[in-house]
Amino acid sequence: MNKIYYFTGTGNSLQIANDLNEKLSQCSVHKIAKYSGEKIDTKTLGIVFPVYYWGLPLVICDFLCKLDVSENTYIYAIANYGGLPGKALDQCEHILKEKGLKLSAGFLINMPGNYIFGYGAKSKKVQEKLFEKESKRIVDIYDCVKTRKESKIEKSHAVIDRLFYNSFYKHINEFHEADKYFTVDNNCIGCGLCAERCPVDNITMVKGKPSWNHHCELCASCIQSCPNKAIDYKGKTKKRKRYLNPNVKL
Ligand SMILES: Cc1cc2nc3c(=O)[nH]c(=O)nc-3n(C[C@H](O)[C@H](O)[C@H](O)COP(=O)(O)O)c2cc1C
Ligand code: SF4
Ligand code: SF4
Repeated sequence: MNKIYYFTGTGNSLQIANDLNEKLSQCSVHKIAKYSGEKIDTKTLGIVFPVYYWGLPLVICDFLCKLDVSENTYIYAIANYGGLPGKALDQCEHILKEKGLKLSAGFLINMPGNYIFGYGAKSKKVQEKLFEKESKRIVDIYDCVKTRKESKIEKSHAVIDRLFYNSFYKHINEFHEADKYFTVDNNCIGCGLCAERCPVDNITMVKGKPSWNHHCELCASCIQSCPNKAIDYKGKTKKRKRYLNPNVKL
């Protein structure tokens, strides 16, 4: 049996999980945010997630700390990123090692960036090129996972990646509370999609408007999903082009 656990804000990680799931036999896909520490009984375990601030999202650190699998489970990770992958896979390997588990393979996939807090969506053409590359990478990953091959943990060799990780990753600890910078304007029609899509149930609808509950992952799903662009962050994102992965249903 094969299991894939994923966390996603805007669908890139879900696309990767789904594409691999289609190839592997007897495989199932599960949400990381719903995991509460129960024993996972599986021959291979895939962990798919986005890179945040050149490292692991908080929800992934939490998942890895709670993870309960037998020692002989073949564990591999797929980190996807918009520009610079930093040290997310090294971090993943380190946390597993501390628990006496081994990361047998680690893959990096460049996907369209969704960091609306800094930039808008890439053009459709650029997105298509990245999706083409993704499908080729899935074939390589499948070849490795199906034979449970020990493989290298892929790394960025750019010095800037390590520098950025060392300088900025510490700010990940501010993410849970960063939702205080979200605002909602009169274009909100109270549809509730932002709350429905939040992968960590951090939004409650109050009098027909979203209200954030301060356990945010800053995954960008709410702001990217709003059909009326009614959500803004720090007054900076109103005019930015939104991004949602077009190949999955969130
Ligand atoms: C809060 C946040 C931080 C991010 N930090 C990085 C980063 O350090 N390096 C990078 O290459 N991409 C970064 N990204 C982009 C995502 O890793 C990338 O778009 C990923 O494919 C999104 O996956 P998802 O659609 O599954 O959420 C960041 C995105 C967000 C929302
Ligand atoms: S998705 Fe947008 S329009 Fe719908 S409730 Fe949320 S903020 Fe309002
Ligand atoms: S509140 Fe918005 S940014 Fe925060 S985790 Fe939920 S969907 Fe993501």
